[in-house]
Amino acid sequence: MESTRNKLIHLLEQHKDTYISGQLLSDKLQISRSAIWKHMKELQKDGYEIEGIPKKGYRIVSSPDRLSENTIQWGLRTNWLGKSIIHKEVTTSTQHIAHQVAQENAEHGTVIIADEQTNGKGRMNRHWYSTRGKGIWLSIILRPTILPYLAPQLTLLTACVLADVINKETKTNSKIKWPNDILINGRKIAGILTEMQAEQDQIQYVVIGMGINVNHTENDLPGDIQEKATSLLLESKERVNLKNLIQQILVTFEQEYDAYIKDGFSKVKKKWESHSFKIGENVQITTLKNQWTATFSGIAEDGALLITNDNGEIEKLYSAQIDW
Ligand code: BTN
Repeated sequence: MESTRNKLIHLLEQHKDTYISGQLLSDKLQISRSAIWKHMKELQKDGYEIEGIPKKGYRIVSSPDRLSENTIQWGLRTNWLGKSIIHKEVTTSTQHIAHQVAQENAEHGTVIIADEQTNGKGRMNRHWYSTRGKGIWLSIILRPTILPYLAPQLTLLTACVLADVINKETKTNSKIKWPNDILINGRKIAGILTEMQAEQDQIQYVVIGMGINVNHTENDLPGDIQEKATSLLLESKERVNLKNLIQQILVTFEQEYDAYIKDGFSKVKKKWESHSFKIGENVQITTLKNQWTATFSGIAEDGALLITNDNGEIEKLYSAQIDW
């Protein structure tokens, strides 16, 4: 359920070029004018600059730079994604919160975001550095109507969304490295962690976590990852507004997700391959039994890596070490 505060923000946003009267707000929100006034005071405390003119009404002049549920929702043009947002200044991991609230029935499209994570989780139990205020540390709860074995497609879809938005917003040329790293100039800028709660033939929920290094200087990247990681600031030499980037990601995610649910995976697959790192090039593959070189040819419907061996045979790989 959308909170009164969110509804108020949406109404103010719709009237941002004019004014909206206290009476109209009170009628639409079914609360008293003094309750409206209290909400306005709360918004001001949050850093909103609000103009109130007798006989004209209220208008939001500017919204604050910092992240909060309200600032992300202000101007967010989505239909279902981010209608409920949980923002934390500090948390262990947005994935943890997402699992907690999903088990308490949080709705499809709930977004959890933190300024800082003290125990950010990467893939394969790795730690994910989440420096305060420098990046986007965000998890989305989805309740998709797809079979559990198709869930990896959502990771591939997310990678396309991040690559698209990063390239558009920062004029960089990011690439996707299988299965789900986003790289710029060969260094990692973003990672995706998908976790799922499911029965054999039904998904209860999926949590898609994304971490993006945005305004890190070199000193903000810990020594052990400085060689391999980068940030949008380091690559584009321009600071990026976190709130705008988050909104672009949510809008693009919603569009791509809706299209995927309606039309299936084939467009996502094409897009993924068009963003892919080293497609058509040789990679070295190591499994428990073997080590060999083959051509990286793309991805399969189930998200597996497709390689073409020297004898022309196409093979699907689900888990192997790939040296790119
Ligand atoms: C990886 O490349 O290993 C995946 C990294 C995923 C990091 C994000 S940050 C937001 C969410 N919360 C976490 O603890 N992890 C994911």
